[in-house]
Amino acid sequence: MIAPSILSADFANLQRDVEMINGSEAAWIHIDVMDGVFVPNLSFGLPVVAAIHQHATKPLDVHLMIVQPERYIKEFKAAGAHVLTVHYEASTHLHRTLQAIRAEGMLAGVALNPHTPVSALQDVLLDLDLVCLMSVNPGFGGQSFIPQTFQKVKQLRAMLQEAGSKAFIEIDGGVNANNAAALKEAGADVLVAGNSVFKAADPVGMIAELHGA
Ligand code: DX5
Ligand code: ZN
Repeated sequence: MIAPSILSADFANLQRDVEMINGSEAAWIHIDVMDGVFVPNLSFGLPVVAAIHQHATKPLDVHLMIVQPERYIKEFKAAGAHVLTVHYEASTHLHRTLQAIRAEGMLAGVALNPHTPVSALQDVLLDLDLVCLMSVNPGFGGQSFIPQTFQKVKQLRAMLQEAGSKAFIEIDGGVNANNAAALKEAGADVLVAGNSVFKAADPVGMIAELHGA
C-alpha cells in the first residue's frame, strides 16, 4: 500500500492535491502533525486534518509527532483519522494510549525513531495495528533514507509473525522508486512517500510506480 504524505503537498492547493491522491492508486493519505517540541518543526493541526477529510475519499493515516499525544485522541477521531500513530518516544503510558485509540474505533499505530530498536515493542505487539518505522529522523520531508531500516523491517516482521500479530509495517522517510521494491521484499506493507510523489513530474504515475514496485 502507498500512503502519499501531504507534508510535501502545496498547502495553498490542498484540495487539488487531495483530489490527485483520490484519483491515484494510493491506499491511504499520510498526514504529519508536528508540534515544534517533539520534533524541531511545526506543520499543522486538527482543523487542517478535518479540512482534508472533507475532500478525501481514502482513509487518513495520521502520524502524530507531538508530545503527550494521548491528550488529543478523541479530537483526531472527530477530525476523521482512520489510523492514529503516536511516537514510542513521546508516550510514557504507551499501552494505555493504544487501548484508548482502539476504543475510539481507530487503528492504533506506534512510530519508532531511527535509534529506537524494534524490540522495544515486544510487550505491546498484540495491542497495536501498525508499526511505523521512521527511515529518517522525523520532522522534515525530503531527507535521505537510512539503510539500517532494512534490518529493522526484517526483525519486526519476524517478531510480529512469532506473536501472531497482523499489524502493518509502515516505512516513513526517503521512500522512492529505487528502494520501494526492496522494502516490500523485506516485509513492509505500507510505504509513505512525500517528496518522491509530490516533486515528481507525474505524481499519479509515481504513485502507480511505487505501488507496482
Ligand atoms: C517526516 C514525516 C514523513 C515525511 C516523509 O517527519 O513523518 O511522513 O513526509 O517525507 P519524504 O517521503 O519526503 O521523506
Ligand atoms: Zn510521517
